[in-house]
Amino acid sequence: MEIEIRARGHVRGRTARRRGVLNAIGAVCSHAGGPLDEGKLEGDCVECPWHGSRFLISDGRVRGGPATFGQPPLVVREQHGKVEVKLAHPLH
Ligand code: FES
Repeated sequence: MEIEIRARGHVRGRTARRRGVLNAIGAVCSHAGGPLDEGKLEGDCVECPWHGSRFLISDGRVRGGPATFGQPPLVVREQHGKVEVKLAHPLH
């Protein structure tokens, strides 16, 4: 099951449920700003629709270039039918 969301505030996320666990990573591709929230989920990776970089949905690590930097992982919490996300680590 895939869920696409936009978080309140300034964080866009790409989520996917894998093996019962809901994960999310930042949705602005680290390569050139492509929309990962429009990318396909292939196994455990999200593929960027612009140039094909692949990132692990569990923690944002790069699994295929041209991107060389990973995506920021997001903390996901499901509560009372709502999904909340926040950055796992500050960006700066
Ligand atoms: S913008 Fe995502 S791979 Fe280039």
